[in-house]
Amino acid sequence: MCGIVGYVGKKNATPVLMDGLRALEYRGYDSAGIYVAGRGALKRAGKVAVLADSLPDDFEGTLGMAHTRWATHGAPTEQNAHPHSDPTGAVWVVHNGIIENYADLKASFLAEGVTFKSETDTEVLACLIAKAYTDGVLLEDAVSDALAQVRGTYGLVVASSREPEKLVAARASSPVMLGIGDDEYFIASDATPILKHTRDVIYLDDGEIAILTPEGYEVRTHTRTKVEKPVETLEWDVEAAQKKGYEHFMLKEMMEIPEAIENTMRGRLLPGVGTVKLGGLESALPDLLSAKRIMLTGCGSASYAARVGELMIEEFAGLPVEVELGSELRYRRPTMDPKDTVLFAISQSGETLDTIEAIREAKRHGVRVYGVVNVVGSSIARETDAGVYNHAGPEISVASTKAVISQMTVLALIAILLGRANELSQTEGAALIKELERLPDLAREILEKREEIHELAKRYKDTENAFYLGRKFQCPIASEGAIKLKEISYIHAEGYAAGEMKHGPIALIEPSFLSVVLVPEDSMYEKSKSNIQEIRARGGRVLAVTTEGCEDDIRTLADDVIVIPKTHEAFLPILTTIPLQLFAYYVALERGLPIDMPRNLAKSVTVE
Ligand code: F6R
Repeated sequence: MCGIVGYVGKKNATPVLMDGLRALEYRGYDSAGIYVAGRGALKRAGKVAVLADSLPDDFEGTLGMAHTRWATHGAPTEQNAHPHSDPTGAVWVVHNGIIENYADLKASFLAEGVTFKSETDTEVLACLIAKAYTDGVLLEDAVSDALAQVRGTYGLVVASSREPEKLVAARASSPVMLGIGDDEYFIASDATPILKHTRDVIYLDDGEIAILTPEGYEVRTHTRTKVEKPVETLEWDVEAAQKKGYEHFMLKEMMEIPEAIENTMRGRLLPGVGTVKLGGLESALPDLLSAKRIMLTGCGSASYAARVGELMIEEFAGLPVEVELGSELRYRRPTMDPKDTVLFAISQSGETLDTIEAIREAKRHGVRVYGVVNVVGSSIARETDAGVYNHAGPEISVASTKAVISQMTVLALIAILLGRANELSQTEGAALIKELERLPDLAREILEKREEIHELAKRYKDTENAFYLGRKFQCPIASEGAIKLKEISYIHAEGYAAGEMKHGPIALIEPSFLSVVLVPEDSMYEKSKSNIQEIRARGGRVLAVTTEGCEDDIRTLADDVIVIPKTHEAFLPILTTIPLQLFAYYVALERGLPIDMPRNLAKSVTVE
């Protein structure tokens, strides 16, 4: 949420920063701003393009920072856009996160007669830094002194007119990385604005502060102890984070699903011994394999992947599994026993604060925590004891597509691993792996049907309400289908356990109400068919997703049918997700909506 980019070097900073903002726009897009040393700041409400259009030609300099915002404190107006400064304009700040005690701090400043231009917590932070930045004090020391007085989360960059050759960055629970180029340095909240310039990066940890000048950089703690940080190499390339001719990132990322599944499984399948090898979990294996209770956590789509994982682990390993939302886990009375419980935290971005807080809660209770993360070097990757990377490649569109599929694929691998340590025989394991190997091709077959799904989307684009219904393995996918339709098409949709319909929700069914029913040939097939009949009997419209061989049967019941290939029941969620994502995409396309950047949302939710 919110994107930050900073530059110190010999080049003109403005195009670097504006390019960076465009790359970061998926993290927040309600307003944007730029500060360039010697020129000051320019801010605009709306998309980055609005800011770009209003930049004067001579807005140039060799040091600067920029920000694209997802509003937390105050409406998305020009006044509330970052950067923010103290009233004298000496100190400028761009900030991600939330300063929790800002109201108290602001009250003290107001009592001193300070006037504020915005409603933001960040402006208060700028005032706090400026107050500590008395004559003779260095900017980095003023930043440390100010941060000692705040509670909350931040990833921030500070510039000052008194030291125009210096940027200071700091981190507490909101990501900040440094890009190390040739005589030039970058700061960013994620890798996308840096990729084009360098692959060498340093990840700041909480409590660290970085000082960048054209001569070099230093990382230290707030108590002024120098920290030697390893320079790590970014694995993604620039190409992977571009649209490659597709109209939207979402479509491009769905078309990459087969490759994402392949990359997730690459080098990890051991068909000969009917198991899998997950290098990142190797050191944790003895602990992991002796676990008697598995907990899975994540938010949004990642939580639906977790619910699929729950069923897979129960099916293959016979272990008790509990899924809890990242946003809820930390508020529960802890019943996690570190002796026999392990927690897997699932997150594409690795920056979802609710999930991070769940990890911290589990760790406070001594529970070992493993990550399933797509972004290498992200906060969750660094805060967990070990883990599995998805290798799905960058996901830019706000709605998660290939990443959620990859999350289910990783969970299938973990389920087989745990299964082989428990109930699953070598022969059974080998058969499952054979089935997993087929998935990329089966996904390709579904994607080839995208125009057929586009036609259905045209038919249903004016729907106002939709149920997504499924049982057992398809129940979490009902939720996944519904969240996709909601977030990019703005159509009210709910995912339900199909068996729950008769306990209340069926009252809503009338001819304009759409039900998308997941009815592949699995152990729930007959029961799910009955649900279709119940809906049709009440005049509701049904779009069914079924598997090859059942289409004739289902066509007699449903208004429309999407047919996908068959696979093992436990892996079917990986396939049934695809037509639902395509359907949501094409409905949003037909409604003319901003698919990659839907209203009110942003990729990577770094606030609680
Ligand atoms: C839905 C979606 C979100 C994310 C959720 C968790 O399409 O994208 O629900 O799945 O915000 O994000 P990560 O996986 O980055 O923790």
